[in-house]
Amino acid sequence: MEIERLLEEAKKELEEIKSPEDLEKIRIKYLGRKGELKKLFENLKNIQPEKRKEYGRKLNELKIFLEEEIRKRRERFEKKEKKEIDPTLPGVYKERGYLHILKEEIKRIEEILVGLCFEIEKGPEIETEFNNFEALNIPEHHPARDMQATLFLEKEKIILRTHTSPIQIRTMLKKRPPIRICAPGRVYRRDAFDASHSPVFHQVEGLYIDKDVTFSNLKGTMEIFLREYFEKKDLEIKFAPSYFPFTEPSAEVAILWERNGKKEFLEVAGCGMVHPNVLKNCNIDPEEWNGYAFGMGVERLCMVKYSIPDIRLFFENEKRFLKQFSF
Ligand code: DAH
Repeated sequence: MEIERLLEEAKKELEEIKSPEDLEKIRIKYLGRKGELKKLFENLKNIQPEKRKEYGRKLNELKIFLEEEIRKRRERFEKKEKKEIDPTLPGVYKERGYLHILKEEIKRIEEILVGLCFEIEKGPEIETEFNNFEALNIPEHHPARDMQATLFLEKEKIILRTHTSPIQIRTMLKKRPPIRICAPGRVYRRDAFDASHSPVFHQVEGLYIDKDVTFSNLKGTMEIFLREYFEKKDLEIKFAPSYFPFTEPSAEVAILWERNGKKEFLEVAGCGMVHPNVLKNCNIDPEEWNGYAFGMGVERLCMVKYSIPDIRLFFENEKRFLKQFSF
């Protein structure tokens, strides 16, 4: 009879199941809304009346049998699943991410300068020759342009900025003084990689324009900044005369720092009083306003602070190096 055949078939299939998914397939096949049993129940009305009672009883028995078998097997699977979680096994270790050392240091530099009332400015890495050179008092044939072996883009007069100083120009062209900004960013030069050169590196620019700004304002700011950054209250700082076309007078800033067991002055920044021509190029009257500017290399600051011997380490992204700075 149909019911017996179905019972045998279901028993055989139940023996063969390997997963909860197999079990579910069987449930749907027999007990589902369009399942085999449903069809047999629907057939009930076609059975001769005297056999109908017996047929119905057997069908019910089959239904209860299948429901029970499926329930038991499902429980068995669930128990097995629970057993597979072994609480004595070591946990799955997920490494925590951290910022790159340069990102971390730029954040620190910004924090100190914001504390000294500098606002953060940004500028594009693709610049005009005007913003990068001309407006900064570096005319076309000036030898200073050789100092910063420039990467020219295909378009004429468009370059990868060689320093963050063009952000000075952009800011002065759009804002009226007083201005007090710092501007971190990536800069590019036509340099090959070696221990102290990289074709791409980072600088932080500073600019303060107001009335009656003095060189001692600049000195004081540089001293406070460097003592904070190098975390040394009595850090010895030296200003030596230097030359930049966009400042007059100009200075190089060096700090007394221990390197390879002996103390020496290491240069960490360039600075000076903004050249009147630069102000004029930005439509600011040098008779009324004046100011100072400074520029620092972020990699350079980091290398001095943490005794990092080679600039390439910042860009190789070797994890054993970077991890040392995951504070
Ligand atoms: N732009 C200079 C460079 O890349 C660094 C610099 C020096 C910036 C003196 C300044 C400054 O703002 O006053 O070498």
